[in-house]
Amino acid sequence: MAASRTQVGIIGAGPAGLLLAHLLHREDIDSVIVERRSEEYVVERVRAGVLEQGTADLMIEAGVGERMRREGLRHGGIWLAFSGRRHYIDFEALTGRAITVYGQNEVVKDLIASRISTGRPLHFEAEDVAITDAGTDRPSIRYCNGEEYEIVCDFIAGCDGFHGVCRPSIPATYLRTYDREYPFGWLGILAHAAPNSSELVYALHERGFASFSTRSPSVTRLYLQCEPDEAIDSWTDDRIWEEFETRFECADGWRPNRGEIFQKGITPMRSFVTEPMQYGNLFLAGDAAHIVPATGAKGLNLAVADVRNLSRAFAAFYRQGRRDLLNTYSDRCLRRVWGAQRFSWWMTSMLHRSPDGSEFDYRRQIAELEYVVSSRAAMTSLAENYVGLPLD
Ligand code: APR
Ligand code: PHB
Repeated sequence: MAASRTQVGIIGAGPAGLLLAHLLHREDIDSVIVERRSEEYVVERVRAGVLEQGTADLMIEAGVGERMRREGLRHGGIWLAFSGRRHYIDFEALTGRAITVYGQNEVVKDLIASRISTGRPLHFEAEDVAITDAGTDRPSIRYCNGEEYEIVCDFIAGCDGFHGVCRPSIPATYLRTYDREYPFGWLGILAHAAPNSSELVYALHERGFASFSTRSPSVTRLYLQCEPDEAIDSWTDDRIWEEFETRFECADGWRPNRGEIFQKGITPMRSFVTEPMQYGNLFLAGDAAHIVPATGAKGLNLAVADVRNLSRAFAAFYRQGRRDLLNTYSDRCLRRVWGAQRFSWWMTSMLHRSPDGSEFDYRRQIAELEYVVSSRAAMTSLAENYVGLPLD
């Protein structure tokens, strides 16, 4: 077995693991990233694409935001569409902040390129990744890649997502988990169609939710509410476009441009939180610790907030010998996590039709939307949560 040492072992090369590694590099803290998938798989994985103002600012400040600044699409607000009309929520007027639409896989590409430029270890296609001595002050990462490897760490950052090995490496009796599965999922498509709205559109129709987003001047991203376990093959391209056009139907005639659908998939929707987000010298960050419904576009942004906290805690430990930020990591992250859970649940519940919902529920949702678009206070509340509450 090939043995090595590092200060921070990172499991997972998604946004959480890659950004943490970059922030540690800037503090001259050693880390090793161990990722089970190939680089191509990680880069091509289609995910969401909304960056809070704080996330975009952090990427620029950390020196990995140049392409995002060039190619990302700055959006000053969103449209809410219901009862045949669209209503603009002006984030910039209400909060002075905006969002950046920039595919998560683009963020990952930029972070991988940055990691490679540092020359620091990033191991793809690691098999049988496991943690030993998770609760001790000398945890290790073991994995295979042709031969067996062991990395002895001061700390391990579990950035391996919801289906990773890090959370399960913590004794179940030590953790409390909170879980809510929604009775619907999202059918998402990418189409070679020029986006014809400068801002995102979230729609509630009596047939359910639909949303419009973008990826580039030639690629439109669209989602519609569907059954959580539907087979994607039951959705032909024509059926998909017809459903979008029905759900977006507006008096002003707007509807998304059609084009060749080059990616489509169905993802279930859930809210999930693990408490605490740490065990001994193992720290969970991102989807390894929490999942939010995509409606509020918080998943990537929560991962960023977690690793910003964690990198600062590691820096305080290695520079000043302080453990206070490490000891309070979980509590500080969970305050933001639960705030994002509340907002994501609220946006989801307001904009989706529950299968067991009644006509009363639909009319109540429409009344809530009518209130939101007619109240500056309500629009400001939506706006400040969507663009991201200030990072403490
Ligand atoms: N060993 C090594 N790597 C693993 C393992 C394992 N056992 N299990 C999973 N991984 C890798 C996955 O292949 C993935 O690349 O960990 C990474 C986790 O990345 P994400 O799932 O993207 O999670 P995170 O970095 O927290 O980013 C959260 O990603 O899933 C979206 O919607 C989510 O936008 C949010 C963001
Ligand atoms: C996306 O662009 O993928 C996106 C936009 C808004 C959401 C979720 C995803 O709420």
